[in-house]
Amino acid sequence: MNKTKINIQAPKGKLAILTPGMGAVATTLYAGVEAVKKGKHLPIGSYTQLGRIRLGKRTENRFKDVKDLVPLASLDQIVFGGWDIYPENAYEAAAHAKVLENDVLELVKESLSKIKPMPAVFDREFVKRLDGSHVKKGKNKMELAEMLRTDIRNFLKDNGCDRAVMVWCASTEVYTPPTAVHASVKTFEEGLRNNDPAISPSQIYTYAALKERVPYANGSPNVSVEMPCMQELSIEMATPICGSDFKTGQTFLKTVIAPGLRNRQLGVAGWYSTNILGNRDGEVLDDPGSFKSKEVTKSGVLSDIFNKELYPELYSNISHVVRINYYPPRGDNKEGWDNIDIFGWLGYPMQIKVNFLCRDSILAAPIVLDLALFMDLAGRAGMKGIQEWLSFYFKMPITKAGLSPEHDLTLQLLKLENTLRFFTDEELINHLGLTYYGVDEGEE
Ligand SMILES: NC(=O)c1ccc[n+]([C@@H]2O[C@H](COP(=O)([O-])OP(=O)(O)OC[C@H]3O[C@@H](n4cnc5c(N)ncnc54)[C@H](O)[C@@H]3O)[C@@H](O)[C@H]2O)c1
Repeated sequence: MNKTKINIQAPKGKLAILTPGMGAVATTLYAGVEAVKKGKHLPIGSYTQLGRIRLGKRTENRFKDVKDLVPLASLDQIVFGGWDIYPENAYEAAAHAKVLENDVLELVKESLSKIKPMPAVFDREFVKRLDGSHVKKGKNKMELAEMLRTDIRNFLKDNGCDRAVMVWCASTEVYTPPTAVHASVKTFEEGLRNNDPAISPSQIYTYAALKERVPYANGSPNVSVEMPCMQELSIEMATPICGSDFKTGQTFLKTVIAPGLRNRQLGVAGWYSTNILGNRDGEVLDDPGSFKSKEVTKSGVLSDIFNKELYPELYSNISHVVRINYYPPRGDNKEGWDNIDIFGWLGYPMQIKVNFLCRDSILAAPIVLDLALFMDLAGRAGMKGIQEWLSFYFKMPITKAGLSPEHDLTLQLLKLENTLRFFTDEELINHLGLTYYGVDEGEE
């Protein structure tokens, strides 16, 4: 396939990975990267660090490490920074989060202790279960956005960084559907100046990042990059955006199992998902407003995969229930149960039970790393607007208006891999392989 060659700037200098939120996920990321840099651990779960990609025809038997195919920033070039409503440094916050054992914490103590959060933009109206004092004060929301922009510029200067990416790792906010203020950049900026109550802190961070041409990924279900104003701004500022909500545990498995059932034309009568977790995220999600945000991203997955308009015989009447229960004794070690009622040939019922004992932040940290490195790559490749090729990482991938997202994990990986091949002028692979019919493009 002929295409215009993509010109990707080399990843020179240091890359700042800025995280609003320095809680369990963010500090597990920082600690993990530092431990890997010391050669003490492997970056397990990270596609950018361990992924291998096939290039060319199968007969060529040609594979490359992802990080050798595309020019990604190396771990040594990363500088971490962030904002939080609590003033603890990253070492103290990691100890508080209780995700990592003492041996890892001690190994990275020196570097994590140096990472101190900048005061946050925070509003209790949006996260009811938390209250911190390390927050900015401004006369209106525009002033708060300006302060974040100054933080970004100062961070780059003080740390000798060449460029930055921002990945939202802060708490889930109360569900806030778009209103008139989110319709365009103009209305949003007016809203910032007028302190419009519908503008959430996460939207202020998104706005500040984009105005500074900092690629922005949304790791929570907060509604920010979905807003028309943010999509307009990302095009205007020629900066990539992606989201929403890291796909880590239960939903990750849903997007593996559900496409399999659909591909075999097996029916589904019900899918009951429940889980217990006891970390701060669980406490925040115990508030019905924040849980509503999570429920939206978690529930959309199955209705999109089991498209009842396309498959009325199989998926018209699915009872899909999602529960999250805050249960402190488990801390970050979540336990999820899924009961799936399916039916097969002649309508005979069957059941699948999944019991996933996972570690939330251990699954999320490598996703944040990959997103940061790929968003930096996208920025250097001149990409702007929604980066659908990163859907692989999200519970609710954003798409252009009018398109439905692709949730099937295997198809999401194909899209990601083909985008990397496209970036590097490699043949796109369509897995056709009809050699005997003379169609040997791609697969053979
Ligand atoms: N761990 C997972 O598997 C997973 C999966 C998908 C999404 N997420 C999302 O990732 C986010 C982080 O999860 P976590 O487990 O690290 O939570 P956490 O509670 O440990 O950390 C969140 C941090 O954000 C801070 N914070 C809250 N509002 C802020 C603001 N406006 N500005 C700056 N800081 C703010 C809190 O003080 C806290 O330290 C949550 O939104 C969660 O829903 C996590």
